[in-house]
Order: sequence, then C-alpha cells, then structure tokens
Amino acid sequence: MNRALNFNAGPSALPEAVLKEAEKNWLDFNGTGMAIMELSHRSKEYQAVHDKAISLLKKLLSIPDDYEVLFIQGGASLQFSMVPMNLLSKSQTAQYVLSGSWSEKALKEANKIGKTFIAASSKDQKYRFIPEHNEDCDLENAAYLHITSNNTIYGTQWHSFPSNKKTPLIADMSSDILSRPLDMSNFDLIYAGAQKNLGPSGVTVVIIRKELLEKSSEELPSMLNYNTYAKNNSLYNTPPTLAIYLLTLVLEWADKEGGLEQIEKMNEEKAKILYDVIDESDGFYLGHALKGSRSRMNVTFNLHNEEASKDFLHQAKEAGFVGLGGHRSIGGCRASIYNAVPAEHVQKLAEFMKAFKNRN
Ligand SMILES: Cc1ncc(COP(=O)(O)O)c(C=O)c1O
Repeated sequence: MNRALNFNAGPSALPEAVLKEAEKNWLDFNGTGMAIMELSHRSKEYQAVHDKAISLLKKLLSIPDDYEVLFIQGGASLQFSMVPMNLLSKSQTAQYVLSGSWSEKALKEANKIGKTFIAASSKDQKYRFIPEHNEDCDLENAAYLHITSNNTIYGTQWHSFPSNKKTPLIADMSSDILSRPLDMSNFDLIYAGAQKNLGPSGVTVVIIRKELLEKSSEELPSMLNYNTYAKNNSLYNTPPTLAIYLLTLVLEWADKEGGLEQIEKMNEEKAKILYDVIDESDGFYLGHALKGSRSRMNVTFNLHNEEASKDFLHQAKEAGFVGLGGHRSIGGCRASIYNAVPAEHVQKLAEFMKAFKNRN
C-alpha cells in the first residue's frame, strides 16, 4: 500500500513507524492478551504508558519541575473556556493577541467569563502577520496574556515570544508544539490539542506552572478545574487511553529522531522547499503570510485568482495530494507540513507546483 501524500491540517499525518508499532501491539498489548483500549485505566500496564507520556513530554520540551503536565479531553477549544474559568478573577483583565480565527475563538469564550483586552491584532490586515504587542502597556491587573503560537488557518507563527515576566504568558500551541525547542520558563501555561504534532485527536496536553493552580476557585465544576487533573495525575476519571498510548509512541519517535533540535532543523528545511517555490514563482504563487511571520507548519498561498486556485487544487488532488485546500473560512491553498510529513512528500509537492506553473 502507498501512503497518501497527506497535507491535512489536523487530524494529520502520523509517523508511519508509530502506526506500525501500534498495529503490532493492536490485539495483544505487552503480552496482556488485550488491546490497550481494553485495559483498565487503573492497571499497571496502562499506568506505565500514562507515566511514560508525561516523562517524555517533560524530557522533550525540557519542562522544569515546577510545572504539571495534564491530559484533558474536550480539545483545545475547551481550553478557550478553562483558561479564563481558572485564571481570570473578577478584579482582573485578560489580554489577548488576535492573530487568527483560533485566537478570536479563545477571546470569545473569555468574554463570557470576565473582562478582556485586545493587546494587539492583525485582523484588519487579514492576519498576514503576527501583530506587535507593546509590552510596556501591559495592564497592571492583567490575569494573563494569551497568544496563539502558530496560526493554523492563516499560516503565521511567532518566532520569538513576549518576555515580560510581570504578566503570565499563556499559549495555544495546538499546531506547533514539539516542532522546535521550547523555553518553558517563558510560559505559565501552554495547551495543545494532540491531533497535529502529538498524535490522534482525543487528548489535549496542558502544561501549567504549579503556582497558577492556586488561582482556581473551588466552586468550579470538578472536571473544569485544573487542580482535579493535577491532584490525580490526570486519572480522576477515565482518560482517553488509546490517544495517550499513541501520544507515547509519537513522543518516542520524536526522541529517536534526535529530539526537538533535530526536528526543528527538518521543519526548517521542509518549509524552505515550499517557500522557495513561492518566492521564485514570479508572483504565480502568492504567499499569504508576510515573510517575517511565516509558519513552518502551515504554508498558505493563493494563485492569481480563485479560478486558478481551484484548478490547482483540482489537479493536485488528481495527482494524489490530500488536504491542500485552505480552511473553509478563507479558501486558497494550504500545505500543512507537521513533524510527521516526510521531506520527500514536500519535495513532490514542490515539483508539482513548479510543473503546474510551467503548464500555465
Ligand atoms: C491553533 C489551534 N487552536 C485550537 C484549535 C481547536 O482545536 P480542537 O479542535 O482540538 O478544539 C485548532 C484546531 O485546528 C488550532 O489549530
């Protein structure tokens, strides 16, 4: 069987080695005679998987001891609500940088909980760049500053992060976690739905500075309180065991690839292949993101008109490329080239783009 040339934005390509390993253990996990999803989440076999996922995340992301790693369901979208529910008190204001549709959604949920402030926005420029946020005007009573480190839909990415230690920094890293080394001490909370670089959908990783846990009110419903997860090693109720098992396999794969320095290098090389085609196309392909804000995970581009973009997408599909249509909210084209997308597939896409240009 030929693996598809998969450029889906999420759920997206997983490393082939991970899928093969899962297949090998599918019916009989570690000699138990049961599949991983048939094991009790209280069994020692599952506990070992769960603990390994946490320890590998700590290792790969260099997470210091004063942080907790939590596994929560409900996707990154639930974090849009849980973050303000746990961390935004009545007397404070939450700051949001608007850099795309996901940050707008995060702000919308925070508005239901408390006071918010838009610290910066590039909305009126079609989110083509990461807006500058003036750190000097941080509000005294800011509960936190929320950013989206990679904007999956618009194809922009933060390449350096705010460093003002006065305001806790929170990042939605759903579409670029594990794509590059991280200085966790810069952040107070990060969250990421797994279905891009971490594994299948079903589990969301939340990494929170322990100090912040004191802020959650006891009045919160248990399942919406970070402390419930922190106090119970994310085993208060049944966790998504299969998703966490696959997460463990993806983390082992990333570790074997050489860790995040190596993965970052591969991601830079892959992104360069496509951006070079765009830049050398004499305006045939028009990149959506401004150069300084380009994402290494989602390469967004248009052709000179909608008809041409449609024709490109149609022919790309015929040629076996999957998932190149832009998000339904903005159209155009998008190649999502997460960690698991092989460089050869990116190269094939670059060749297709060049050939399409020559034919037209
Ligand atoms: C940056 C970002 N945040 C949040 C979400 C929403 O994630 P979920 O579907 O897990 O709620 C996505 C989904 O693509 C995303 O890319």
